[in-house]
Amino acid sequence: MSVLDIQNVTKQFGLVKAVDSFSLTVADGELVCLLGPSGSGKSTLLRMVGGFESPTGGVITIDGEDVTRVPPERRPTGMVFQSHALWTHMNVFRNIAFGLKLRRLPADEIKRKVDAVLELVGLGGYGTRQVTQLSGGQQQRVALARSLVLEPKILLLDEPFASLDQHLRERLREEVRDIQQRLGITTLFVTHGQDEALALADRIVVMRDGATEQIGAPDTVYREPETPFVAGFIGTMNLVEGTIGGGTFRHAGLAVPAPAPDGPATLAVRPEALDIRPAAGAGMAFIHRVTDYGTHALVDIELPDGLRLKAMVPEARDWKSGQAVDITPRAYALYRDNSVIHRSAEKND
Ligand SMILES: Nc1ncnc2c1ncn2[C@@H]1O[C@H](COP(=O)(O)OP(=O)(O)OP(=O)(O)O)[C@@H](O)[C@H]1O
Ligand SMILES: [Mg+2]
Repeated sequence: MSVLDIQNVTKQFGLVKAVDSFSLTVADGELVCLLGPSGSGKSTLLRMVGGFESPTGGVITIDGEDVTRVPPERRPTGMVFQSHALWTHMNVFRNIAFGLKLRRLPADEIKRKVDAVLELVGLGGYGTRQVTQLSGGQQQRVALARSLVLEPKILLLDEPFASLDQHLRERLREEVRDIQQRLGITTLFVTHGQDEALALADRIVVMRDGATEQIGAPDTVYREPETPFVAGFIGTMNLVEGTIGGGTFRHAGLAVPAPAPDGPATLAVRPEALDIRPAAGAGMAFIHRVTDYGTHALVDIELPDGLRLKAMVPEARDWKSGQAVDITPRAYALYRDNSVIHRSAEKND
């Protein structure tokens, strides 16, 4: 049982409020992703949980025990940093054994634990390798092993795969998810990759300016973003500024039912929920470009006022640039003052 509880935690650096009264409870065995743009306070928050930064205000508890002022080496947390920091003058074994030696474990027990964790991260037999002789992905696995070997109650990962290529990143994140579930370890994972968050997380916290913009399961955050910021940040989203009048939202030739009070609003519609068809008359818009991705195609559509929207279609060859089209948002949401004022019956998916 390891529960991490963060209550009203704030971090002020001079005039900058990096984290602003942030609260979150991570359940036993849960993996929560902190997702947000650069500078939104993700690393600062994680560093405070790990004890590498001291909060200006608020309380952090692990299994009910207040650790807010406890130094990192005495916290039951293990952290893998944004830029991995292995000791290049030590081989793999000694890098991983270091923390266990500090704990004065007997040599045979250290050997057993290090060998086991090397197996766990897929580096069995690599103990005598020099760190400098490893690939970037292997080095990240060593960094992970070095944290896991100390059997932390809480695992903290700060963009551990940011420096790796897409392919390796996807593979490693699946491995981490496997290991995390096998060990049932409570985990806070920082990323600014939305794919990573959607693939990994039990819950996602979308951060903006040091505070929570939305917390939810990946599919909820994706399908029912509560603010235009979340809508625009997760996945591809068409955002259209317009006006609601008499129950209809309008922008250029575009009109959708909007059972909401009159006034300005933002329409959000996913490319896969924007239906297009060859224009019946003069057409509402024109196709600017068609991009074929093999499994599907994306059509860039230009409205009369120059605004571009993206629509996903099954077949690229059905469409060509310059073609006049009519468009209908099938599933959409409308926002005003940073909150939802209407969602269509069919959800964005
Ligand atoms: N030691 C520090 N001194 C002063 N300001 C800091 C310090 N560390 C972070 N900040 C500021 O706090 C804010 C949050 O930084 P943080 O590193 O937590 O962002 P982040 O979400 O991890 O960004 P990234 O995705 O780029 O890693 C930024 O404005 C940053 O400049
Ligand atoms: Mg960071």
